[in-house]
Amino acid sequence: MLYRDLGTSGLKVSEIGFGCASWWGQPAFSERDAIGLVDLALDRGITLFDTGPAYSRGAAEGRLGRALSNHRTDDLIISTKAGTTFHQGRVVRDMSPPAIEASLLKSLGRLGLKQVSLMQLHGPSAAELTEPFLAFLGGLKRKGLTRLIGVNSFDPLVIAKAISLPEIDVVMLDYNLLRPERASLIAEARRAGKGVLAGMPLAMGHTGRKVMQIRAPRDIWYALRALRHHRRDIVDGARFDFLDRFEGLTGSQAALAWVLENEHIASAVTGTTRTKHLIENLRASGLELPEPLRLQIAKAQSEIPR
Ligand SMILES: NC(=O)c1ccc[n+]([C@@H]2O[C@H](COP(=O)([O-])OP(=O)(O)OC[C@H]3O[C@@H](n4cnc5c(N)ncnc54)[C@H](OP(=O)(O)O)[C@@H]3O)[C@@H](O)[C@H]2O)c1
Repeated sequence: MLYRDLGTSGLKVSEIGFGCASWWGQPAFSERDAIGLVDLALDRGITLFDTGPAYSRGAAEGRLGRALSNHRTDDLIISTKAGTTFHQGRVVRDMSPPAIEASLLKSLGRLGLKQVSLMQLHGPSAAELTEPFLAFLGGLKRKGLTRLIGVNSFDPLVIAKAISLPEIDVVMLDYNLLRPERASLIAEARRAGKGVLAGMPLAMGHTGRKVMQIRAPRDIWYALRALRHHRRDIVDGARFDFLDRFEGLTGSQAALAWVLENEHIASAVTGTTRTKHLIENLRASGLELPEPLRLQIAKAQSEIPR
C-alpha cells in the first residue's frame, strides 16, 4: 500500500481508503462479514476509514466503531460527517452549530474515540459557510473533538468555496472515470493546501454496467439505487465496457488507477462488501495504467455528452 499526504495537514493516508457506508453498514449485511472486511483492510495497510452518522440508515458509524474496537486507532485516519443524521426513517439535515456539535459528540461515542481525525460537513451550501460558522468549526478543533475540518460535496460551487477558506483542511468530492472535469478543481484544491479525497471512485459500479450484474440480494439494492438516482451514470458508464477486456488488470483496478494517477488525490475511498473486491481494489495501489488503456479512457470520456 502506498501512502500520500493529506494536503498540508501533516497527516498521511493510504491511497486506497475504505468507505463505511451503503450496503456495508446496513443491518441486512452480516456484521461479521462487515467487520471481517475492516480487519482485512487494516491488515493490508488501509489507514483511512470514512463514515457518517446518516450512512446506511444510521447504522454504519456504530458498526465501524465496533469493527475498530479491537484495534489500535492512533495511526488511523477516521473520518466522519456532520450536518446530516438519520432520524425516524429519514435523513435529517441540520447545519446549525448546536446540531453539528451534538452530532460530532454522538459520533465519537459510536466510534469509541475521543477525537476523530476529520469531521466533514456533509453537503453544506456555499451560503452556510459563513465567518461565524467557520469560527465555530475552529472551536471544535480547539476543543480537541476533531483534528481537521472538511467539506464533502458533489457540487463544484460548494467545493470551490471550501477551497477558498483557510479553515477547511480537506475536501471530498466525486472523482471517477465519469467525472474527469473535476481535475481542475482538484488541482486548485491542492494549490490551496487542501487534502483531496475521491468519494465514489468506482463511480458506484456504474462503469462497465457492473451495477446491473445481480449475483446476490445486495446487488438488487445497488441496482435499484442506480436506477432511481443515477440513470445518467449508467448510460455514460456503458461507454467503459472495454475496461474489463484489458490484460493484466481488472476494470475496477483500471478505474482506481485512473483516479490515483491524479497526484493531487490523497486517497480513493472505495466501498465494498466483498472480500474478493477488496483484495482486487487493494492491488490498484501503485498500479500504472497501460498507455493504450489510458488513451481509450480519454476517448470514451470525450464522448460523454456534457
Ligand atoms: N456515494 C455517495 O453518494 C458518497 C457520498 C459521500 C461520500 N462517499 C464516500 O465514498 C465511499 C465510496 O462510495 P460508494 O461506495 O458509494 O462508491 P464506489 O466505491 O465508487 O463503488 C462502490 C460499488 O462498487 C462495487 N465494487 C467495489 N469494488 C468492486 C470491484 N473490485 N469489482 C466490482 N465492483 C466493485 C461495490 O459493490 P460490492 O459491495 O459488490 O463490492 C459497490 O456497488 C463511501 O463509502 C463514502 O465513504 C460516497
